[in-house]
Amino acid sequence: MAILVTGGAGYIGSHTCVELLNAGYEVVVLDNLCNASEKSLDRVRQITGKELTFYKGDILDREILNKLFAENKIESCIHFAGLKAVGESVQKPWEYYNNNISGTLTLVDVMRSNGCKNIIFSSSATVYGNPAQIPITEECPKGECTNPYGWTKSMLEQVLMDIQKADPQWNVILLRYFNPIGAHKSGTMGENPNGIPNNLMPYITQVAVGKLKELGVFGDDYDTPDGTGVRDYIHVVDLAVGHVKALKKIEENAGLCIYNLGTGHGYSVLDIVKNFEKANDVKIPYVIKPRRAGDIATCYANADKAEKELGWKAENGILQMCEDSWRWQKNNPNGYDS
Ligand code: NAD
Ligand code: UFG
Repeated sequence: MAILVTGGAGYIGSHTCVELLNAGYEVVVLDNLCNASEKSLDRVRQITGKELTFYKGDILDREILNKLFAENKIESCIHFAGLKAVGESVQKPWEYYNNNISGTLTLVDVMRSNGCKNIIFSSSATVYGNPAQIPITEECPKGECTNPYGWTKSMLEQVLMDIQKADPQWNVILLRYFNPIGAHKSGTMGENPNGIPNNLMPYITQVAVGKLKELGVFGDDYDTPDGTGVRDYIHVVDLAVGHVKALKKIEENAGLCIYNLGTGHGYSVLDIVKNFEKANDVKIPYVIKPRRAGDIATCYANADKAEKELGWKAENGILQMCEDSWRWQKNNPNGYDS
């Protein structure tokens, strides 16, 4: 039996493939490579010394999905495939709703018609909107999203919950990620953003490698200890391990489960700059800029539920995350193109 990993060539997906193969699972990846390089999968093979099956194709394409199910015995799906750029989603809402929502509806329909009713879905802390409480527990009510990307996550959570409610044979695990950073310790796999990065850590590593001049810190007047935004940064390998633990839960016929995957620690933008400088002995010049529209002051998880029910806890601290992000960027200044 195999695990279908949609979006498996992407940042979190490729790291998860490594952990799945290391845990002894057979892996089938479906990715249209709209935001990834197939080289990431070669690195997965190199790191693990194991094979995986790759289909280049779209989750909106029933034909390839049916072919994939006919050719493999798929037990469960870990569904990463989706568009994820917050700013772009404001410019291209139709593309985001179509890709993420219609894509997931198509995937789930083909899954059930092939008798596969186990799915782990990549959700996000963004579904909490401006959170009602900090640290955020899973009981915290969902909030208003500030962009179409966030709404796709919020809506898809509802879609999957309703499907599970109507047919309890489904096992649905919604994983709400906080802020994934870091890279595989080998330095051969990491985040590979297109163009100028939107997210903090890839921006910092590109400043460190000399591709960008300085970091713009978006606001220093938030109600936080140093005035800059506070987030829960989690090592991508810890996140990947969380998916393997979630698969074990699915194997116990879990029904519907929702988990925060975070560390429970909040770090400000300036904390990240300082930790990156300390871990790697490089200087990160920065300037304070105005706040970025849609940002909130503080967001970090209470991840006790995942620890209690999945036996999962993030292991890597912030210095390790900074060190691993830098190793990847330094060894691969142009990502998978170098
Ligand atoms: P990523 O862009 O690196 O990976 C997504 C992958 O999906 C890419 O390889 C892309 O080519 C593929 N893809 C997109 N649309 C597709 C389609 N229609 N058919 C087939 N493949 C398609 O992003 P990531 O950071 O690895 O994120 C993985 C998932 O986790 C996404 O759903 C994302 O929204 C979610 N998530 C990410 C973050 C984050 O900060 N990275 C936070 C919360 C949630
Ligand atoms: N920031 C800067 N300068 C930059 C980039 C970011 O100061 O150049 C700041 C932001 O203002 C924020 C913090 O760094 O305070 C983190 O910003 P990111 O863009 O790295 O991450 P976000 O918390 O805004 O959002 C990320 C993902 C979303 C996801 C969310 C929660 O981009 O998709 O985490 O999981 F929904």
